[in-house]
Amino acid sequence: MKSLGQLLQSGDWKGEKHVPVIHAPEKVSAGESFEIKVSIGDAVAHPNSFEHYIAWFKVFFHPEGAKFPIEIANFDFPTHGEGDNYTEPVGLASVKLSKSGTIHAISYCNIHGLWENSKEITVE
Ligand SMILES: [Fe+2]
Repeated sequence: MKSLGQLLQSGDWKGEKHVPVIHAPEKVSAGESFEIKVSIGDAVAHPNSFEHYIAWFKVFFHPEGAKFPIEIANFDFPTHGEGDNYTEPVGLASVKLSKSGTIHAISYCNIHGLWENSKEITVE
């Protein structure tokens, strides 16, 4: 039996359209707001149709040396062609951090499963 963690797929977002792309500064100041944007298909477009779509992103922050990650954002994309309308899989969060660590993002495609990416961030 595989654990959920073993089911998370990854890759280079420049060649793999399912990998969530984390847009965030490499360095931020402690306690100051900054934006984290998560998107998908920046280099290779992912379909957004009734049959095939990105359903959600979850975003976590793992502070250096901490035992557990913290959930910092959760984005659902519920519209996939209803009335010819679509929710594009892009999420934006405003975040304040007190410590350096790693941002982790997970995306879910209804056909191709779970995908992850991560980005280190330094808090000065
Ligand atoms: Fe897909």
